[in-house]
Amino acid sequence: MSLQGKKILLGISAGIAAYKIPLLVRLLKKEGAEVQVLMTQNACQFVSDLTLATLSEKSVLSEIFPKSSQVSPTSWTCHVALGEWADLYVIAPATANTLAKLASGLCDDMLTATFLTMPATKPRLIFPSMDREMYRSRSVQRNMLQLVEDGCKIIEPESGELASGLIGEGRMPEPENIMASIHSEFQNMLQIDRLKNKRILITAGATREKIDDVRFVSNYSSGKMGFALAGEAAKHGAEVVLISGKTYLETPGGVKRIDIESAEEMFEEAKLYFEWSDVFISAAAVADYRPEKKIDGKFKKTTDSFELQMVKNPDILAHFGEQKKRNQIAIGFALESSDHLKHAQEKLIKKNLDVVVLNSPNIDGAGFEVDTNIVTILSKEGDIQEYPLMSKRDIATLILKKSSCFFDKD
Ligand code: CTP
Repeated sequence: MSLQGKKILLGISAGIAAYKIPLLVRLLKKEGAEVQVLMTQNACQFVSDLTLATLSEKSVLSEIFPKSSQVSPTSWTCHVALGEWADLYVIAPATANTLAKLASGLCDDMLTATFLTMPATKPRLIFPSMDREMYRSRSVQRNMLQLVEDGCKIIEPESGELASGLIGEGRMPEPENIMASIHSEFQNMLQIDRLKNKRILITAGATREKIDDVRFVSNYSSGKMGFALAGEAAKHGAEVVLISGKTYLETPGGVKRIDIESAEEMFEEAKLYFEWSDVFISAAAVADYRPEKKIDGKFKKTTDSFELQMVKNPDILAHFGEQKKRNQIAIGFALESSDHLKHAQEKLIKKNLDVVVLNSPNIDGAGFEVDTNIVTILSKEGDIQEYPLMSKRDIATLILKKSSCFFDKD
């Protein structure tokens, strides 16, 4: 895929690897991309802005308030226009200092201010590069995790000889490899754009199964995964209906949300929309059982113990997968604490699904309530792909991309 006409912001911060960036600019320009370079002041110590301006055929921007008297009175607002203009923001090399600023929302130069003003829908690729111990430090790791949670893609540095003489991770990938990441990012965008005008039904969050008027049985699901899916799908032009258990999350723009409490209510609502949908994504943590009888009023503690008789809830996903599915693409989740792959594969087959997203509740950064997850995606064609720790937003993009592959075959 060529980069003809693609508009790329290229942020350079002050790492020794900056000396390789002119070559990257050259490769981007050769493929027809428009490149706007944004440099921190200190980055100019490592690479000349004249070189970069010459290769990119655009003035390099650095400070928000340049000292030159020739600057027009409105030039300081150009970071806003640049964020609107760009298709992609690449930051390479990203130093520890720049990562810290980006993670905390500081914006005291063009590179960081433009990062903040760029609409959240646009992709950002960040290439951290620094010395080994700096890279391993808790603060750098924390900031990278924050950026992943904020929806950025961090490309891990390579291992090898570093400017300090140490050997280890911290090297920025070669320009050719950065180009490969840029290509794959545009490929992603192209793929996911196939969701335009598709109808997507999503269930999200935990159901609540009432014991009495003030108590219920539920689980820790926050709904974040389902809401991320709904938001991403709507952003890419899909029509989205989101059936959600109780949550404090805000409804993503462009999404029709239906609130329910119990599994039975979720099932009834889903029945109304399943026929309408092209894709059904079951991200809800549906309670498998509910109390057989809800007690009226508030149950009094008159005994030392009591037994709660539970009965099975409908399996919403299995119902649609097994009995109702015609052309719909059905995607389920599998939360497994043992024999992960085996159980996920069983669910894929038993519930007649196209895709299963496997995750585990006992890995750091994965599972309920957090903004990140570690997943393996299994498809009915037999491919199994494992992914590293990612933001739920990026995982949503992956899942939607996976579902859009099935459209090609229609
Ligand atoms: N699911 C559903 N209705 C249920 C239970 C689960 O629609 N009553 C859906 C979930 O939304 C998820 C998938 O089925 O997409 C698998 O859920 P999970 O809880 O991992 O598995 P279960 O099928 O409930 O099986 P088990 O609890 O035995 O692992």
